Amino acid sequence: MYAIDKLLLENKAWAAEKKSDDPEYFERLSHLQTPKFLWIGCSDSRVPANEITGTQPGEIFVHRNIANMVIHTDVNLLSVLEYAVEHLKVKHVIICGHYGCGGIKAAMTKHDFKQVLNMWLRNIKDVYRLHRDELENIKDEEKRADRLTELNVKEQVMHLAKTSIIQRAWKNEQRPQLHGWVYGLKDGLIKPVFEMGADTHIDPLYEYDDL
Ligand code: CO
Repeated sequence: MYAIDKLLLENKAWAAEKKSDDPEYFERLSHLQTPKFLWIGCSDSRVPANEITGTQPGEIFVHRNIANMVIHTDVNLLSVLEYAVEHLKVKHVIICGHYGCGGIKAAMTKHDFKQVLNMWLRNIKDVYRLHRDELENIKDEEKRADRLTELNVKEQVMHLAKTSIIQRAWKNEQRPQLHGWVYGLKDGLIKPVFEMGADTHIDPLYEYDDL
């Protein structure tokens, strides 16, 4: 049997098990989703949002990309954010990076990954440049990558706060709370590293005063 066929077979077994545990399960979920959380995580296959947080289908709205970036020209990310905040009315937005992230490590090299990846990784290099002094004081390369992972998560949370989507929800509904987390591949634990709530003020240059 090919590996791809195994996925479909496993799916059948999973659906049957869910249904035998709870006959109404699919019927109920098909009517509505009311997740309280938006998860913006890395595409890395080792960081599945539901599994590591013990949540079920219906509980977390998910967006993933390489190194959990929030880029202001990314229509995909922005439409997920707008839908989650304005329509699903999520209470929390979580940016979850992870130690050992290949995207972070790649951005620390001088290797040419060809244009599209170079373009994406450039955004991580910009975070490195902002924190160059702190990072270059860390001699151990793995520890430096770990710290860049934390700083990157913090910068991406701040990018969320720069959007009119978040600022409008903060002003009108005092939500969502923004969280920056880092997941450890080696121990399975999530470390909270940064947080921003509706009462936060950011650099006035980015604050809209006529929302
Ligand atoms: Co990663």
